[in-house]
Amino acid sequence: MSETAELHPLIATRWSPRGFTDRKIDPATLSSLFEAARWSASCFNEQPWRFVVATKDQAGEFQKILDVLVPQNQAWARTAWAIGVTAAKKTFTHNGKPNYYGMHDTGAGLAVLAVQATALGLHVHAMGGFDHAKARADFGVPADFEMGAAFAIGYVEGSPEPPTTRTRKPLAEMVFGTEWGTVAAGIGE
Ligand SMILES: Cc1cc2nc3c(=O)[nH]c(=O)nc-3n(C[C@H](O)[C@H](O)[C@H](O)COP(=O)(O)O)c2cc1C
Repeated sequence: MSETAELHPLIATRWSPRGFTDRKIDPATLSSLFEAARWSASCFNEQPWRFVVATKDQAGEFQKILDVLVPQNQAWARTAWAIGVTAAKKTFTHNGKPNYYGMHDTGAGLAVLAVQATALGLHVHAMGGFDHAKARADFGVPADFEMGAAFAIGYVEGSPEPPTTRTRKPLAEMVFGTEWGTVAAGIGE
């Protein structure tokens, strides 16, 4: 059996499209994606994630976010109903010390957001290809926050299966026993 065959459908059917339909995302539905991220785990429950987001209902703000993306991403992300960027707080609020898990937890938040999106028939596509300095300046991101990833959210035509061209490294290359590079017992069998 392939590794994918044993996955929960919410995981198996998530993929990153480069193109969306113009179908509007109902505000309550969009809100529920961020609610999902809100309930993600984080170090000291810091909830370091922040999201800058706009939909096509706010044409000026949508364009402002589109403008920070690299042209290759702008080309398809402009079809999404919602686009945005994440940022991660670099320090703990309770003591001001560095939080080395801020970006870790912000990425986890976006992953949980994508699971909720998948459950609601939506797709999320993350992007590293954007101008961090421009985003920081244009959106007023404070110095205590690190820019994360951009993202696009929307519906895709029909009920599309993930493309068959998606590939992954084998588990043996990423899940180790206590000697680095050795396969962990019982994994991937
Ligand atoms: C942090 C991050 C940055 C990414 N940057 C880009 C990007 O700039 N442009 C793009 O088209 N896809 C980008 N991707 C999408 C990845 O290429 C994609 O997730 C990967 O190929 C696996 O495909 P899948 O999401 O369909 O499983 C990014 C994904 C992540 C998580």
